Amino acid sequence: MTRRSDSKHAGVRAITSLQNDRIKAIRALDMRKARRESGQFVAEGTSVLVTARDAGWPPATLLFLAGSLKNGVGRDLLDWAEHAGAECLEVSAAVLAKVAVKDNPQSVLAVFNQRWAASPDPEKLPPEAVWVVLEAIRDPGNLGTIIRTADAVDAQGVILVGNSADPYSREAVRASMGSIFNVPIARMQLEEFSSWASRWRGDVVGTHLKATDDFRKPCRLPGLLVMGSEGPGLSPEAAGACTRLVKIPMAGRIDSLNIAVATALVLYEMRKGKLSL
Ligand SMILES: C[S@@+](CC[C@H](N)C(=O)[O-])C[C@H]1O[C@@H](n2cnc3c(N)ncnc32)[C@H](O)[C@@H]1O
Repeated sequence: MTRRSDSKHAGVRAITSLQNDRIKAIRALDMRKARRESGQFVAEGTSVLVTARDAGWPPATLLFLAGSLKNGVGRDLLDWAEHAGAECLEVSAAVLAKVAVKDNPQSVLAVFNQRWAASPDPEKLPPEAVWVVLEAIRDPGNLGTIIRTADAVDAQGVILVGNSADPYSREAVRASMGSIFNVPIARMQLEEFSSWASRWRGDVVGTHLKATDDFRKPCRLPGLLVMGSEGPGLSPEAAGACTRLVKIPMAGRIDSLNIAVATALVLYEMRKGKLSL
């Protein structure tokens, strides 16, 4: 059933039917094909939506548990969505359960239009800039965690090279903890990468398990950090585009670090001149 909500917010529509087409369409955004076709994605939770608002991302749709946005920040979010002209849907607990994540579901979520940044012009970068390149990253949780770390060190953005996990999947958005709204995401094919990277003015730092250079040696900025895929690591083509290959020393028996952990270690090293408490 769909009816006009009796909420004071005139633009809010109440939905209680699990068969409602809008609910089905939002649920479908769990699938990559639907995200690609619609150019939209879902983000959940009050603090993530506050980040979206503060970063200037108007929602296309705001969906919330009936009665949950009456006061405080929740009410502010509803005002924000209405002001942005978003579709506002007030739903029953059963409907929310259909569209929210299963573990730790939130009472509010929103649908946004995806944004893809242009790759930066290597000749027009601020001198201190750091960008992160991820070659064929597979795991959306790792991708979201890296986007969060890029935000933490104020990197300029993340470039996805080749076939990669979708940064707008729920898992990636969730792992980014809202940083998906702060960090520009660009994409590029591997074929373009070498010629583009050859115009980079500072170090192009590839991380490689066979490297003999320690990642703690100083990096010439602007810096481009290039990370390999979880499975095969850095391809020979991507490694060939790097001006340096570095390794993070390991003393135990494992042969590599998780990619998000490795990215964090090198990023903090590259940005250490800019990070203080
Ligand atoms: C899980 S590792 C891939 C391991 C892969 N089997 C290989 O041979 O490279 C994923 C990525 O994390 C980075 N990485 C992980 N551990 C690293 C280390 N100790 N030093 C440098 N990079 C590392 C590299 O970018 C690597 O391609």
